[in-house]
Amino acid sequence: MIVAPSFLTANFSILRDEIESISQAKWLHFDVMDGRFVPNTTYDARMVSRIRSFSNQFFDCHLMIDNPKAQIGKYIAAGAELVTFHVEAAKDETEECIQLIKDWGAKVGISLKPKTPIERLDAFLSQVDLVLVMSVEPGKGGQSFMEDSLGKIAYLRRFRNDNKCSFLIEVDGGINYETAKKVKEAGADVIVSGSYIFNQRDRNQVIGVLENV
Ligand code: DX5
Ligand code: ZN
Repeated sequence: MIVAPSFLTANFSILRDEIESISQAKWLHFDVMDGRFVPNTTYDARMVSRIRSFSNQFFDCHLMIDNPKAQIGKYIAAGAELVTFHVEAAKDETEECIQLIKDWGAKVGISLKPKTPIERLDAFLSQVDLVLVMSVEPGKGGQSFMEDSLGKIAYLRRFRNDNKCSFLIEVDGGINYETAKKVKEAGADVIVSGSYIFNQRDRNQVIGVLENV
């Protein structure tokens, strides 16, 4: 299992040490929130370039922002290697966002909120590298896992097999050891975990456990 720690709950005054403490993870999950698409605001592309200067992890950038098309280039220029946007935010520009990420040379991820039916993604699944299934309402860390995300994961695994697609399935929200086992069972390839990892004393040790769930 690929583990992508979300550092939303990190102590930003010792950011470099905090990122060091999760260096076991090959991926790093950036939760970008603009206070419009979701109620909270976190950080922007400057955070990506700041951490790019001292981390060689794979940068997985989750854009919880309105009008993603206008910002995609900034995040890739700052060092994002995978950019995931929400279909609810892209509205009728999903195809353009996919093409723009490809033009910039990064991997393409699409995501959907818990209440958005999974079939909304059907038209795009053959064009993307990753689907991010939200197992919490996007906007903050520390929420509980929503069991009905398991149905979406299973749907995506079936769709991928039936249509010979190659996208990865990533799950984000409320992931701990128990829920990691459930989503792996359902077909997840990548798990995002924030508070569960950051609440541990030895974060790299728990990342190792999640990698082998
Ligand atoms: C929520 C974010 C998630 C979340 C993960 O909007 O997309 O990445 O921060 O944090 P936990 O693992 O604490 O749910
Ligand atoms: Zn996220």
